[in-house]
Amino acid sequence: MTKVDVILGLQWGDEGKGKIVDVFTPRYDIIARFQGGPNAGHTIIFDGKKFVLHTIPSGIFHKETLNVIGNGVIIDPFILFKEIDNLVAAGMTPGDNLLVSTRAHLIIPTHRLLDAALESAKGNAKIGSTLKGIGPTYTDKYGRNGLRVGLISEPGFTERYNQLKSEHLEVIMNMGFDFSLHKLDGLSFEAYEAKWFESIERMKGLKIIDSESFLNACLDKGQTVLAEGAQGTMLDVDFGSYPFVTSSNTITAGVCSGLGISPHRVGKVYGIFKAYCTRVGSGPFPTELHDDHGEKLRVGGNEFGSTTGRPRRCGWLDLPALRYSIMLNGVDSLIMMKADVLNPFPTIDICTGYVKNGALLDNFPFELSDENIHPAYKTMTGWHTSLDQCTSHASIPGALADYIRYIENEVGLPIDIVSIGPDRLQTLLR
Ligand code: GDP
Ligand code: IMO
Ligand code: MG
Repeated sequence: MTKVDVILGLQWGDEGKGKIVDVFTPRYDIIARFQGGPNAGHTIIFDGKKFVLHTIPSGIFHKETLNVIGNGVIIDPFILFKEIDNLVAAGMTPGDNLLVSTRAHLIIPTHRLLDAALESAKGNAKIGSTLKGIGPTYTDKYGRNGLRVGLISEPGFTERYNQLKSEHLEVIMNMGFDFSLHKLDGLSFEAYEAKWFESIERMKGLKIIDSESFLNACLDKGQTVLAEGAQGTMLDVDFGSYPFVTSSNTITAGVCSGLGISPHRVGKVYGIFKAYCTRVGSGPFPTELHDDHGEKLRVGGNEFGSTTGRPRRCGWLDLPALRYSIMLNGVDSLIMMKADVLNPFPTIDICTGYVKNGALLDNFPFELSDENIHPAYKTMTGWHTSLDQCTSHASIPGALADYIRYIENEVGLPIDIVSIGPDRLQTLLR
């Protein structure tokens, strides 16, 4: 019996999951997304081409590998087909190796309107949502009102849709939100809804399956499966910086419920982190830099959201948050991304702990936003040189090797992969 390996983010998302899943794909028969939806933006770069995936797993570029959108994912058919059409325009046939769970929930156009209405009602306290309808769709799922993919070919689907839509519109009107002015992907609500229904028709041509039975049968046959996380641990609905989180379990536990896999079948867990930290949207961020260093990370790391284009907030590596994430996920092996972005820094700070009222906290705090919590830093010497000539772990400059060793000692796990550029090939495997 084989197990499901897992790759997921240990910070606030955008760690580089898409790149590493693509690099790992040749080792696996199946890549499966288990949570989140089109709030994700996973970038893959190879042969001078760049792709950003939102719903489709990042194994899609390897024809021999099957890609499963699991039951824990929520799908906007319009966005899904935009992605599929992009891949087709690049000469691929994603329909051949893409499978979609009957139990995945649908994001309907009014979920997106609700997301916008709820965010606008929050004013300054807004989450900074990607406005893809994530919160409202998961709310309907857990409130037992949602529409699942398996329904689309059933009689009565349109009636169920209209019922849910009218319930949403009532809430939206009561909130006083004027959606006639609100654009969805540049379209009016009516135009978007029409395209959404066209996409539902196209969806009937996809391979829609009971993915939990399929995946367990594949594991019984000895096939290998990699689960691809979206967002990151600090955005997890239970353990992230609540309420500034997403609405799903982004941690390893989410693989079980999001794919229908028993905990016994979870294999190796790879945790991905950037050599520094970023966050997009609102919420606490203890090591955030509001100075030139922050700007240097943003520009050097091209830190602009893959889904919304918003500038990402940037700061130093946060070891308390990393240790907490490792604990929650049962990480076996670490992958450190974007080391090259630190090249221009003569010195680099690392947050080694949080201090409150003069004392070092030994527990990860309930409220990360507590104004009395301050990061304690250790300053390290930077490598301050290009990594372009680095082709193996052995050729890593001494100061970068020290940086890696320091983190490994602090968190008690090996960093088995170091990424030094966005391309597939700029990946140093130990
Ligand atoms: P994901 O959401 O975790 O898949 O990450 P994103 O794709 O949203 O963001 C990661 C960004 O960093 C993308 O623009 C990648 O092309 C880029 N990237 C990934 N690895 C590296 C790296 O090692 N160095 C640099 N400079 N960029 C990287
Ligand atoms: P990937 O998979 C970074 C953030 C949003 C917002 C909060 C809630 O590319 O790493 P939502 O749209 O879920 O209601 O937004 O979560 N967020 C992400 N930040 N990367 C992501 O995904 C994210 N998905 C959501 O910016 O702060
Ligand atoms: Mg991303």
